[in-house]
Amino acid sequence: MRPVDYDDRLHRTYAAGRALTDAQRTAWSRAFAARLPAARPLRGLDLGSGTGRFTPLLAGEFGGPVTGVEPSARMREQAVAYAAHPQVSYVPGRAEALPLPDGAVDFALGFLVWHHVRDKHAGARELHRVLRPGGTLLLRTELTDSLPDLWYLDAFPRGREVLAALYEPLSALRGTFEAAGWELGSVGEVALPAPGTYAGALARLRTRAFSIFEHMPEADIEAGFAELARRVAADPQAPARVSPGTVVTFRRS
Ligand SMILES: C[S@@+](CC[C@H](N)C(=O)[O-])C[C@H]1O[C@@H](n2cnc3c(N)ncnc32)[C@H](O)[C@@H]1O
Repeated sequence: MRPVDYDDRLHRTYAAGRALTDAQRTAWSRAFAARLPAARPLRGLDLGSGTGRFTPLLAGEFGGPVTGVEPSARMREQAVAYAAHPQVSYVPGRAEALPLPDGAVDFALGFLVWHHVRDKHAGARELHRVLRPGGTLLLRTELTDSLPDLWYLDAFPRGREVLAALYEPLSALRGTFEAAGWELGSVGEVALPAPGTYAGALARLRTRAFSIFEHMPEADIEAGFAELARRVAADPQAPARVSPGTVVTFRRS
């Protein structure tokens, strides 16, 4: 798949199209806490921090400084504007060359970022370098062994094909990290609260703040939205179905 540059288009709609509800934020906080040690403070790295959806939440929850590393200048600008927090800083960079010293953090989160990393071996090695021994990596990602049944996907011709091409199976993910000195910790799903109605979910989807649309022809996108509009019109106020989110953890040796 060709690389997606968030400076091109996605930065314009990401914050609005991908906003979390308070209940979703709480569910993610709990899921991260359940996978990290109980000690506080914990120093963190938010890899591919984007518009800072999670960065201040991590600093608030785990009490230590959190660095958001993000290659897109336009995504970073919004993070700075949205998420002032005394313990949070945002810096340019990418997984393959992290602008942090050795052993600088206790944990790292990569939330829907790993599929964008082009040189995964370099990224896994760099994460190993900047985490302290025994540190934890949380990867929110999809796995091709268990792709989510996203409520909208089958409306788009080849939607499932595109989703499958973006991700990899657990064996490949595990192989990359084990080669860089990581141990697989856990693979689990986080149940998420419903985000609202189908009418609201469709309005957010129409912002196209989801990189999957960057890999579809315009005609497919139009056909998909026309089909979804028909389906949603039948009962726009029905609660939208939400798929659980897969989280894989690795422990740094
Ligand atoms: C789907 S967004 C996720 C943003 C944020 N983690 C969130 O959940 O809101 C993916 C982000 O990864 C960033 N990204 C792309 N390639 C990257 C790389 N090689 N290293 C780190 N981040 C990268 C993109 O610029 C984008 O901001």
